[in-house]
Amino acid sequence: MTTLVRLVTPLVWRVPGHGARKLFGFARAEQGSRIDLLQAARLTTSLGRRAQYLRHAADETRHAALFARRSTELRTDAGKAGYGPPIADTEDLFERLGEVRFLAFVHRGEARGRRQFEVYAQHFASRGDVRTEQLFRGILADEARHEDYTRTLLVELTGSEEAARTELRRAALWEAWRTWRRAGRAIAGLVFALAMSVVYLVAAPPTALVSRLGRGRTRRQRRQRYLSL
Ligand SMILES: [Fe+2]
Ligand SMILES: [Fe+2]
Repeated sequence: MTTLVRLVTPLVWRVPGHGARKLFGFARAEQGSRIDLLQAARLTTSLGRRAQYLRHAADETRHAALFARRSTELRTDAGKAGYGPPIADTEDLFERLGEVRFLAFVHRGEARGRRQFEVYAQHFASRGDVRTEQLFRGILADEARHEDYTRTLLVELTGSEEAARTELRRAALWEAWRTWRRAGRAIAGLVFALAMSVVYLVAAPPTALVSRLGRGRTRRQRRQRYLSL
């Protein structure tokens, strides 16, 4: 995955408008993580872990604001309005997965984010865009800390390294299934839109004809009524 990101990064970030859009997407993702972490802090039974989740949520709040601000700066430079506040939804992951699986899922996400942001920081450094490079460097330092503490908690809660690794494998499978299901829903939506377009194209000419005939008949009836007066 990191190899793919490394390959496409020099190309995609040069597409006009992509940078601002991508950064705003990160802002929304960070906002989503913030909500998940606040829910975790509310639902966990451990005071120690609650404090860790709250600190993590505060980091994600800051990341969302930083990404959104840089996105708005790029939009402003291009003479466009910003995308507005980053709004995200929640999937109630802590409630649905339970604390162990939630931690495995978060750990994987943090590790992925940290690897991705390392590539982006290097990319912007090579382009001489110090501002965006520093943005990624600052955030990825936090992501590395999130990656570490979630791994430690996972080992604590599962009881061993081996059990933690099993949970991480399960989380990888669950993520793959979730991605496949989302892709399936997106494809189903596309197929539905295409089918409805075909139905419209096939049905529209006869419908228009019937409507025209109806209008013609009404006009004739009106004329006949007028003549019979
Ligand atoms: Fe973050
Ligand atoms: Fe994070």
